[in-house]
Amino acid sequence: MSNIYHFRTMPFPGPQSYPNRIAVVGDLGLTYNTTTTVCHLKKNRPDFLLLVGDVTYANLYLTNGTGSDCYSCSFPNTPIHETYQPRWDYWGRFMQPLVSKVPMMVVEGNHEIEKQAGNRTFVAYSSRFAFPSEECGSSSTFYYSFNAGGIHFIMLGAYIAYNFSADQYKWLVRDLASVDRSVTPWLVAAWHPPWYSTYKAHYREAECMMVALEDLLYSSGVDIVFNGHIHAYERSNRVYNYALDPCGPVYITVGDGGNREKIAVEHADESGKCPEPSTTPDDYMGGFCAANFTSGPAAGKFCWNRQPDYSAFRESSFGHGILEVKNETWALWTWYRNQDSYTEVGDQIFIVRQPNLCPLHQKVNSHLSSAL
Ligand SMILES: [Fe+2]
Repeated sequence: MSNIYHFRTMPFPGPQSYPNRIAVVGDLGLTYNTTTTVCHLKKNRPDFLLLVGDVTYANLYLTNGTGSDCYSCSFPNTPIHETYQPRWDYWGRFMQPLVSKVPMMVVEGNHEIEKQAGNRTFVAYSSRFAFPSEECGSSSTFYYSFNAGGIHFIMLGAYIAYNFSADQYKWLVRDLASVDRSVTPWLVAAWHPPWYSTYKAHYREAECMMVALEDLLYSSGVDIVFNGHIHAYERSNRVYNYALDPCGPVYITVGDGGNREKIAVEHADESGKCPEPSTTPDDYMGGFCAANFTSGPAAGKFCWNRQPDYSAFRESSFGHGILEVKNETWALWTWYRNQDSYTEVGDQIFIVRQPNLCPLHQKVNSHLSSAL
């Protein structure tokens, strides 16, 4: 009944086989800026697309199709709100020329919550995309993992339970224990709200998730973390617990897909821009956990008074990124701005794994034995 579409699947897992070009973007929505982002992205010929949450923004539309920009309407303990499902159809049709040819994996953002009667949430997100089955280790659409050649991807849910006693935590420990780095040398994690972002918008909002999971991911030798949520671009230096650490992950925020909300321009370290700490987490983020701040150049403070050392590069532009894993230890990351020509580079760096310098940390064993 429809045309026949086909795509190339990911290479079989192995240390010498990698997809050529992995596009990474978040917070797409469907606007003129989204059109530019996706057009630009297609020109960069990705083999695989990683979408780090906030997909259609249907929850910001009333059922007559007009925008509502009602930011508190899908939070708990508030009345059920309209969320205009045809936006999902529009978005699907818009993306079809790309995702009918290129495999895409997606993880949920806050705009996918879409709370309904009976406290049902994430219904469109969980229904409209395909996720690995239970035989692949996870029965959840909110957290799962998969391999793409020699890369093991871990997708985590920031808006469901992640603490020590949660199913997600137990699954994560089991999944990390199953990773064979001789087969998949690269370990890449993705979830929606970043832990390391210096923008004022959503500043330190996901700190409870960070407190719960950073040690586990660090101990497991995660190489790269991709996030969205902040409508701008930022790349960190390798960091752990706010201190530079050659064995910590590189955190890359690409919530710059072009959605209908404004681009983030203010930084928490600018004069007068530091948010009041108690206002930073929302109801879905597990409360206020930033009190653990003990190290770094702004120890004892909530904000820095200059761009923190962990922040390597930041820019308020829409765009997308391309990850090219070259071999077991080298990967090239390139960020492209929408306003540039297709070949002009906004930010580019080789990310180099150093397995000899950073053997898997001993702590992971204690996590494993206590959680399993
Ligand atoms: Fe978001």
